[in-house]
Amino acid sequence: MKKTVYIGMSADLIHPGHINIISTASEYGDVTVGLLTDAAIASYKRLPSLSYEHRKKIIENVKGVTQVIAQETLDYVPNLEKIKPDYVVHGDDWKTGPQKETRERVMAALQQWGGALIEPTYTEGLSSTALNKAVKEIGTTPGVRLGKLRRLISAKPIVRVMEAHNGLSGLIVEHCQVEEDGKREEFDAIWLSSLTDSTAKGRPDIEFVDRTSRAQTINEILDITTKPIIYDGDTGGITEHFTKMVRSLERLGVSAVIIEDKQGLKQNSLFGTDRPQVLLEKDAMCEKIHAGKQAQVTAEFMIVARIESLIAKQGMDDALDRAKAYTDAGADAIMIHSKEKDGREIKEFCNAFRKLEKTVPLICVPTSYNHLLECELAEMGFSIVIYANHLLRSAYPAMRQTAETILRCKRSKEVDDTCMPVKEILTLIAD
Ligand code: SPV
Ligand code: MG
Repeated sequence: MKKTVYIGMSADLIHPGHINIISTASEYGDVTVGLLTDAAIASYKRLPSLSYEHRKKIIENVKGVTQVIAQETLDYVPNLEKIKPDYVVHGDDWKTGPQKETRERVMAALQQWGGALIEPTYTEGLSSTALNKAVKEIGTTPGVRLGKLRRLISAKPIVRVMEAHNGLSGLIVEHCQVEEDGKREEFDAIWLSSLTDSTAKGRPDIEFVDRTSRAQTINEILDITTKPIIYDGDTGGITEHFTKMVRSLERLGVSAVIIEDKQGLKQNSLFGTDRPQVLLEKDAMCEKIHAGKQAQVTAEFMIVARIESLIAKQGMDDALDRAKAYTDAGADAIMIHSKEKDGREIKEFCNAFRKLEKTVPLICVPTSYNHLLECELAEMGFSIVIYANHLLRSAYPAMRQTAETILRCKRSKEVDDTCMPVKEILTLIAD
């Protein structure tokens, strides 16, 4: 009987290294490729450029591949135990580094049925990480970017979103990474906050910075990033304006708009009831959501209904009643806002909402209840967490400190240590 060979791969950007592995594997027997799902890949690095279906279509048609099955986890063992292959083939680059443990688990599994591990020499200079970097430099198209948010929601336990208010902060959200336990942590998407966009322009967050100006900020950020964008649409304005806003955002490649159920002069929610927070009637909000859904052109764009009942102290029942109505009106997700520090009301809302609705994604903005970890928010039932204002809030004190120090010292020598070297700022942004 012909021997069986197993290869695990992401196969996002196919390069000769993949072909070498497959052709070596096919010399040993029938090749099954365990294709990592979006969720398996997103558990340790960024989402692949191509969807699982697209990657499957490509790899199925590569010479030497007999069949393609899904590998749902980074760990090979569940698939290996199912198909008990005679061989596993993997480049020898995993002998050291973060994949070392995965390799050991593969060897232990193979030992159970006398299988063997074959490790061809890794093709130097070709790695999907390097190719991904190159792709990122080329940029993205509006359609690809727009569709990414829904892919992230289904691939990740919780989608992590950071605020940006101009090109420079956009670059931080795009590129900032930390490595931990072999996993690369980064932000998944960008929040176009009305608060920070307004504040960066020295204006209050009362829908005064108009749509043209907000669009300018989006454009600045779109130009130098590839990550999906969630736009803070404030109240969305009157319905006839909101439908046009939806179309403009889709055209730009923005993935989602969040509109809040307030009316009159909008005040930032973090004022709580220190400022008048007038809620829009539930039916009027439903109408606006419905009109937006009718207006949208793509299947992937998301309209998110933001509930302000807890901010305006209208009670949990009102919040839940609205959540149900907005979902029925077609909202693709619900954002529940709260400024309670302990996070209890947010938890109560999640529990009750999940009894009414199992699948509609929930979004939180934990500016006040910021002791909760992302894993705890995911556990409660949130699909997206937005860090809504933190880059701007950290930039301002740093700038003020520099200004004060120069005033006090009558020269700038004393701020040398807290300022980026001139040499570095000249080369920070690539030509
Ligand atoms: C924003 O970031 O502009 C928001 C969230 O709308 S909050 O400021 O908390 O209202
Ligand atoms: Mg806002």
